Amino acid sequence: MIFCILGVSCQQSKRNEIENSMEKTSKDYIRAIPGNDGPLDLDLVKRGEVLIAYADCYDCHRTENRSKGPAFQDIAKRYPVQQVYMDHLARKIINGSTGAWGYPVMDPHPNVSMKEAQTMASFILSLKNK
Ligand code: HEC
Repeated sequence: MIFCILGVSCQQSKRNEIENSMEKTSKDYIRAIPGNDGPLDLDLVKRGEVLIAYADCYDCHRTENRSKGPAFQDIAKRYPVQQVYMDHLARKIINGSTGAWGYPVMDPHPNVSMKEAQTMASFILSLKNK
């Protein structure tokens, strides 16, 4: 707060405060679903990474930190690597999502096919152990 003489650094320190407080609560909000991890198809994971890079996902998601949406790593920590969860996430990507993470809304992606969305989901789940 001492550095608030310049408007810019004041804003910056406010933002850091907010990010720190978000960091503290991040453990509570993951609520991991119990279950064993199955194998991941590494080709699929790679293709998913590319699909995500070319879509709008990084407008709202980051790998390690919360942004407008939950961090991809936190999503990975919640869901076991199983087909049923990949399908669940794929449907969320296509239809949009609300209420799962206490964030407002994720817009639907009607132009993403089920196959593409499953591919994206396998990349997200591959971030679990990173
Ligand atoms: C406009 C911002 C925005 C964009 C763009 C966006 N997301 Fe999201 N995403 C969110 C928010 C917000 C949530 C949390 C919604 C909730 O609480 O249910 C979320 C949640 C998710 C989830 C977790 C759903 C669940 O049920 O746990 C996945 C997976 C996901 N996004 C993947 C993607 C992918 C892949 C893309 C790109 C195709 C994408 N998102 C683009 C904002 C966005």
